Amino acid sequence: MGSKREHWASRIGLILAMAGNAVGLGNFLRFPTQAAQNGGGIFMIPYMISLALIAIPLMWIEWGIGRYGGIRGHGTTPAIFKLLWPHPLAKYLGVLGLFVPFVVSCYYVYIESWTLGYAIMAALGKLPNSMMASGVNAQEYLKPFNDFLADYTGMRGTEIFKPSLMAYIFFLVTMALNVFILVRGISGGIERLAKVAMPLLFILAVVLMIRVFTLETPNGTAVEGLNFLWKPDWSQLTNPKVWLAAAGQVFFTLSLGFGAIITYASYLKRNDDITLSALTASSLNELAEVVLGGSIAIPAAAAFFGAAAAQTIASSGAFNLAFVSLPAIFANIPLGQIFGFLWFFLLFFAGLTSSVAIIQPVVAFLEDEFKLSRKIAVFASMGLLFGIAHVPIFLAGALDEMDFWAGTFFVVLFALIEVIVFFWLFPADKAWREINRGGIIKLPRLFFYIMRYVTPTFLLAILIWWFFKVLPDYLLQSHWTAWVAREIMVGILFLLGLLVYLSQRRNHR
Ligand code: PHE
Ligand code: NA
Repeated sequence: MGSKREHWASRIGLILAMAGNAVGLGNFLRFPTQAAQNGGGIFMIPYMISLALIAIPLMWIEWGIGRYGGIRGHGTTPAIFKLLWPHPLAKYLGVLGLFVPFVVSCYYVYIESWTLGYAIMAALGKLPNSMMASGVNAQEYLKPFNDFLADYTGMRGTEIFKPSLMAYIFFLVTMALNVFILVRGISGGIERLAKVAMPLLFILAVVLMIRVFTLETPNGTAVEGLNFLWKPDWSQLTNPKVWLAAAGQVFFTLSLGFGAIITYASYLKRNDDITLSALTASSLNELAEVVLGGSIAIPAAAAFFGAAAAQTIASSGAFNLAFVSLPAIFANIPLGQIFGFLWFFLLFFAGLTSSVAIIQPVVAFLEDEFKLSRKIAVFASMGLLFGIAHVPIFLAGALDEMDFWAGTFFVVLFALIEVIVFFWLFPADKAWREINRGGIIKLPRLFFYIMRYVTPTFLLAILIWWFFKVLPDYLLQSHWTAWVAREIMVGILFLLGLLVYLSQRRNHR
């Protein structure tokens, strides 16, 4: 059974695919907005601590869990948890490893499709192109760009959105491109994509960064933007909200707690290196986040509108920064059409290499546990995704709701479950050996204690804090549309639970 399983073709391909998994819209949109909203430079202190004590240990754990399952023929957590912990509950805990990536994929692919739509429209000169006149304030000047996005997405304060036909068509095209990659499989589709897309992505980001650094207007310079982004607001260091935001960003950006890394790692071979490869892929993501992600959108906004206005823009959310402010800036610079295209194309590549990673867990589950062919598994997963995606596309607030539960809360809960299963319910020294087997570098023993004690304690603290401080207010404020989205998510959870139950019965026979 294990011998028929697909494998990565080369180590460099694997590392680029894992980096492609991690490097996504989170690096270029979510990171700068989160940093700007949470104390600027001070955000990086909890960020670095979360990186060292939660994220990197968890990264090794997820690679270890994935390779362990893969050599036994399983790429998703319902089956892998059962191998690690022979208890009837194990497989149901593993359902979260399908639920989280699936729910996130239902809105991620849609946002990814905006980046493709905007890239094409930028190249064709179809984005608004009014130039900024002197003396006009930023808010006023940005209005046509804002309206353009609202027309495109149909998101304008009503309960039911009415997206443009264009948005819907680009969504279909993006779905088709994801299918195109996924049906070609691990080495033939995902790995080949990553080998082209990742080098290109880094080149595009560097080109854009250089362009941004040479921007200078009467309003400001890019360096002022860096200053604003990195200047620490020390009063924020003791604000728990900043710590939660930093931990959340580290999870999101490294794709941790989603099951996506586990599934990719399940295509490793028995003695493939984990220790150095996981560290390398993570470092590439951090380079693309802290250096490149921090040096494009916000510095550009600061150079063009001035640091104060950039702050307002950044606090109004990631979409405004990417789809409103940057097109406005590109409308004013020479070759702006081309730079606009490069920016959205960069985002699209970042999105595509991540969306295939969020979709693959459900595909792998259908292949491994129901013995479906890859083609059928891909079409079934994408069919379900397509249906559910209509919820965030049409229902106001559903996208935020899905992001809040699956992309923020359940990832942390699921990460805690992973650590407990691997380092407590499975013998800890076996887990440790599993991670180190075949390793190019040997992990210092210190990390054993971090993984067993420190990481779960930290995760538990985050969850408890979140449960008592964030959740009550959040639930009190919700609109009826949020409840609809929640009911749909409960439905998805049940459906996946049922599939896990059926796969179990099937494998007993
Ligand atoms: N890490 C991706 C990003 O930064 C998001 C993602 C999460 C991708 C989970 C795959 C799986 O955008
Ligand atoms: Na990322």
